[in-house]
Amino acid sequence: MTKTVIVTGGAGYIGSHTVVELYNAGYNPVIIDDFRNSKPWIIDRIESICGGKIPFFNVDCQDELAVKKVVENYTNVHGLIHFAADKAVGESVAKPVQYYQNNVGSLCAILNVMQSCNIENLVFSSSCTVYGEAADPAVTEETPIKEAASPYGDTKITCEKIIQFATKGEGQLKSTLLRYFNPIGAHPSAKIGELPQGVPNNLMPYITQTAKGIREKLTVFGNDYDTPDGTNIRDYIHVVDLAIAHVKALEFLDTAANNSAEPFNLGTGRGSSVLEMIRAFETENNLKLNYVIGPRRAGDVPMIYANPKKAQDVLGWTCKYTVSDAVKHAWNWEQSLGN
Ligand code: UFG
Repeated sequence: MTKTVIVTGGAGYIGSHTVVELYNAGYNPVIIDDFRNSKPWIIDRIESICGGKIPFFNVDCQDELAVKKVVENYTNVHGLIHFAADKAVGESVAKPVQYYQNNVGSLCAILNVMQSCNIENLVFSSSCTVYGEAADPAVTEETPIKEAASPYGDTKITCEKIIQFATKGEGQLKSTLLRYFNPIGAHPSAKIGELPQGVPNNLMPYITQTAKGIREKLTVFGNDYDTPDGTNIRDYIHVVDLAIAHVKALEFLDTAANNSAEPFNLGTGRGSSVLEMIRAFETENNLKLNYVIGPRRAGDVPMIYANPKKAQDVLGWTCKYTVSDAVKHAWNWEQSLGN
């Protein structure tokens, strides 16, 4: 019998790519999304890639009863992947209560539903932001969690803690805490990708929108950091590789011990500077990007990248795409969108 997997935030950037990979792997993904940060036509695009119908429900995950009603439609629910959350660091500083209410509130609602519906397996979207500025930039899962620099980061730390306690409480919960590095790129078909609302906060959509002429120029946030070229270093991971890791995490939970809440770093293990990302984008797509060097952005850490050994060894997962692939796919996606 096909295993059903509930995917909250399944119309979002990482969620939509994960739904495709779940379908490819033989699962029956069911999307819950209220489109606050996506568009309904993304569902059509997912279906066009998969070549089949994907059930979806327009529901706010904070609405526990509504989520429960969705889940009760299905008899063979193998697990739940919880993407649904607000994710803009700057906005979280301006609207902290919204971030706690939505991110922590949604998690509590879905944990209650999982317990009452006897769903054991939870895959949770966390972030490398939990490490803050680490002494060694190549972070492992043992790198200490730091006091968060933003409400957004604190919601991820808080949610991880709630899950860790919940797995030890009543019920059968098992979970993975997936700490994402910097997802970029889009599906190779260019049918799904990132849909930033308004002015993008993140580097790659800002680059593609500048190349397209939507933004006048990219500002590089500081070139006086203690890094080889002075700009920040991040671990940019192709969104399809990230999506595949979620399928591997579900498989891992099948055999994981009761009470486990396992963190995994999901990155490539390779850092790239902002200037290297600009060069890669220009070279791979054969164009010139208009950019200037500006002041540092508050809260940026100079350098962080993953030590992905645990995910490789335990999940049997490795990245198959490169930054070169990702910048091409991101540009193909941007060009496929209207202005
Ligand atoms: N950058 C620029 N100009 C821009 C945008 C970004 O120079 O217009 C630089 C940033 O300074 C940073 C790099 O590009 O060095 C990447 O910035 P992003 O905003 O794309 O990503 P961050 O690494 O800041 O943020 C990511 C996730 C967050 C998470 C954070 C943890 O998007 O969810 O990592 O460090 F909290």
